[in-house]
Amino acid sequence: MRVPSKIECYELICRMEMMDHIVAHSLKVCQVALALADGLAEENMGLNRELIQAGALLHDITKTRSFATRENHAESGGELLAELGFPGVGDIVRQHVKLDSYPGGVLFSEAEIVNYADKRVLHDEVVPLDRRMQYIVERYCHGEDDRRRVGWLWEKTRGLEARLFERLPFAAGELESRVAAKEHRRELESYRAACLGDSG
Ligand SMILES: [Fe+2]
Repeated sequence: MRVPSKIECYELICRMEMMDHIVAHSLKVCQVALALADGLAEENMGLNRELIQAGALLHDITKTRSFATRENHAESGGELLAELGFPGVGDIVRQHVKLDSYPGGVLFSEAEIVNYADKRVLHDEVVPLDRRMQYIVERYCHGEDDRRRVGWLWEKTRGLEARLFERLPFAAGELESRVAAKEHRRELESYRAACLGDSG
């Protein structure tokens, strides 16, 4: 399975003309996802760090476009990556809003890590799960059906969170302290450099 490198991800983000605030969000989700993966590394020997990195960086790859087209950005992002020759990353992107299944157990998939990481980042800030889900309710729920769907998702994600932090060597509330602002700034610079290199 081919997985794009970080720089390849940055170049693709640039080519897709992703809005700046979505770039900042994606880079933060990546930091969070890798902090989770590193915390789980001892227990979850099978986790593919490169795959998590690419899935997190590219999870909103078609979101900017979706504002105009109204496409389902999880589905279309997954399809785009499969077409580009990265079906494994596409599968993670496709499941970043809602996972195909919410199993129990002590092992985690890369898709679960990216899905949960995205639910802990509001804009480019690490926040508690409830705050992020409340934002989703306010912003994306227009009727009873939406509210029911998001309520279900909220419950399932709480379960995922509980499972994760049973295994992680730090608490859910400590996640933010595991993610350095300095590193985020450095990655933003590295993204801009990749973007300039790509267009110039
Ligand atoms: Fe998204």
